[in-house]
Amino acid sequence: MAKKRRKRKLKLRYEAVKFLSYFILILCLIIYSVHGSIKIHNFYEYRKTDEYKILSMGYTMEETQDFLKIINKDIKEFLINNSKKKVYYDIIKEKYFLSKNYLKYIDYQKNHEDIKLDKVIALVNVHASDGWYSETYNTDLSKKDLVLVNKFYKLEEGYKRDDLVPISLQYSYASNSAAEEVVNSFIQMHKEVKSKLGIHLMVNSSFRSYEDQEAIYKSFKAKGETYADSYAARPGFSEHQTGLSIDITSTAHPTINAFKESEEYQWLKDNSYKYGFILRYPEGKEDITGYNTESWHFRYVGKKVAEQIFKEGITFDEYYAYYLES
Ligand code: DAL
Ligand code: ZN
Repeated sequence: MAKKRRKRKLKLRYEAVKFLSYFILILCLIIYSVHGSIKIHNFYEYRKTDEYKILSMGYTMEETQDFLKIINKDIKEFLINNSKKKVYYDIIKEKYFLSKNYLKYIDYQKNHEDIKLDKVIALVNVHASDGWYSETYNTDLSKKDLVLVNKFYKLEEGYKRDDLVPISLQYSYASNSAAEEVVNSFIQMHKEVKSKLGIHLMVNSSFRSYEDQEAIYKSFKAKGETYADSYAARPGFSEHQTGLSIDITSTAHPTINAFKESEEYQWLKDNSYKYGFILRYPEGKEDITGYNTESWHFRYVGKKVAEQIFKEGITFDEYYAYYLES
């Protein structure tokens, strides 16, 4: 009798263990399949991400992450619709890269493979890649002393600053005037150069009205439009109308043509930023400024910006496009 009871007990225990095993097995299967479907679902969702799409084009994870930092709709569409090319990534690592111009860089680079990438970036940023005067805009006067006037940004015919002051004949050749701050900074620079180097700087030309510029441009145009455009601004497009530009020469080298060879020019090129001036049309940047180099034309931008432009070795057009406009 006792043996029978023990046997039944054992059987019951066996059934319980069997049930529990089945239960655990089924539970494991449920957990595994739920986990699996979550994984499948996650992967399905991941395939929709920009990261997955860019990686699938063959870019590395590092490149992909860099793209993701600057991505916009245009860049994304471009990357996933075009086979990987080294240059598509190299462009975004350029110092003055602006994501809003990505497709323009690509387009310009494709047609100008001989041009270095940093130049492509600069040309596109300042609109030079579109062609001079191709599209022009009224400049943003709220930028005050940092107003941009070039072959794309213009001033209205009647524009004239209200703080123009005459420049004394002690510092200037003819009847010149410029913004008060510009004149004061020039005089300070004049005095220091004179005491340190014995050089007598002079203002050759400064504020010019729309009409003055019209006459100047017309006289150059007698030799053809291309010629005129490389030397003089069209009326409304001259920085001289801002009252912030001065053409500087010296008593020893009074004409602008000979000024480049002078010690005065060397000094101004390397030191004028300390007084808030920059060389506006430097050598080697003709394709960015649109003008032949002008060793005499200096633009006042204030000490802080002048120092930055000088140290970065960029033109005001590039500075404006990257730091002020974007
Ligand atoms: N020569 C400079 C570019 C001007 O005409 O404003
Ligand atoms: Zn000038």
